[in-house]
Amino acid sequence: MNAIVITPGTSTVRVVQRPDPVIARPDEVKVRTLQVGICGTDREEASGGRAEAPEGRTELVLGHEILGEVVETGSAVTRVRPGDLAVFTVRRGCGRCLPCAMNRSDMCLTGEFRERGIRGLDGFQAEYVVDREEYVVRIPGEIAAIGVLTEPLSIVEKAIDEAVRIQFARLPAASATPDWLHGRRCLVAGLGPIGLLAAMVLVLRGAEVHGLDIVDPDTPRPRWLEHIGGSYVDGRTLPAEEIATKLGPMELLFESTGAPRLAFNLLEALALNGVYVLTGIPAGHCVAQLPACDLARDLVLDNQVMIGSVNAARGHFQLAVDDLVLAQLRWPGHLERLITDRFSPEDAPDALHRHSADEIKAVIEWYAR
Ligand code: BGC
Repeated sequence: MNAIVITPGTSTVRVVQRPDPVIARPDEVKVRTLQVGICGTDREEASGGRAEAPEGRTELVLGHEILGEVVETGSAVTRVRPGDLAVFTVRRGCGRCLPCAMNRSDMCLTGEFRERGIRGLDGFQAEYVVDREEYVVRIPGEIAAIGVLTEPLSIVEKAIDEAVRIQFARLPAASATPDWLHGRRCLVAGLGPIGLLAAMVLVLRGAEVHGLDIVDPDTPRPRWLEHIGGSYVDGRTLPAEEIATKLGPMELLFESTGAPRLAFNLLEALALNGVYVLTGIPAGHCVAQLPACDLARDLVLDNQVMIGSVNAARGHFQLAVDDLVLAQLRWPGHLERLITDRFSPEDAPDALHRHSADEIKAVIEWYAR
């Protein structure tokens, strides 16, 4: 079969021949890959950044945002059947800590986890993929056209769930209601696919959503946000320190810029008792100057929480599926517009090494049903 590989530490991207994977255990699932999304992590890997080949090898099959069709299942598999659409989760546990034993390798305690397509395990940019049933999530046919967004949305679901659970645990009034987000003023910083999906989840939960970026308002990403009821904040004309006075202090801040200085400066927009969740992963090494005293003092005096969130568990993938179904009903046809660029596997080097200004999500199309 064809597979897209990189050589970690270099910017080489190639299509190579690999043997078809086969089912070797009763709990395994084989899928035929339909689409695989490309995200910032893939592009970082393809330009020589954070990536690790499987032990003893020099190349890594890329890709962690799969949508596939089940073609074969081991005799013990019950979650999916041939013909179903499915995705696989990304992280595989260390086998030594409690979170990994509970299928919560997203919270691995040893740091010795592996991630398909990123760290030590081949990824999904290949014609066929085999993995275990515990990592598979069934995708309903109604969201076939947007099922490839499940993995990025799982990241969003985990981050928002964590932020809300923290507020439930510490705010007396929050614990009284399961719909705490309703009517809350929220700011999403960085309107790439993760930011737009975060805005979508927050709108679905009834929040007042502001989305910050630094592009012209009349371009696809701000327009996408406004279509779902969010309001666009142009960071070129409204600096972080003026957000709270102009728009009101934000009770929840969701960061997906990967720009560390902005990420920290946005603390100034956070309300008293507010919660701030960071999901952007800065590439490379950078040094940022920050008003550290003011930021630390305000964090304490304003009872604020700042958390980082990475990866996602099966349950978050399930939440993502449920929200894709809801969003599809609420804004028919709109979610598809997030998938702006489609490439064949042969075009992978081009897809991974460039990023058009209006791209939201790029995908590699492996097979059309
Ligand atoms: C992926 C996560 C992964 C993280 C760190 C992200 O792009 O979506 O699944 O845990 O990178 O490698």
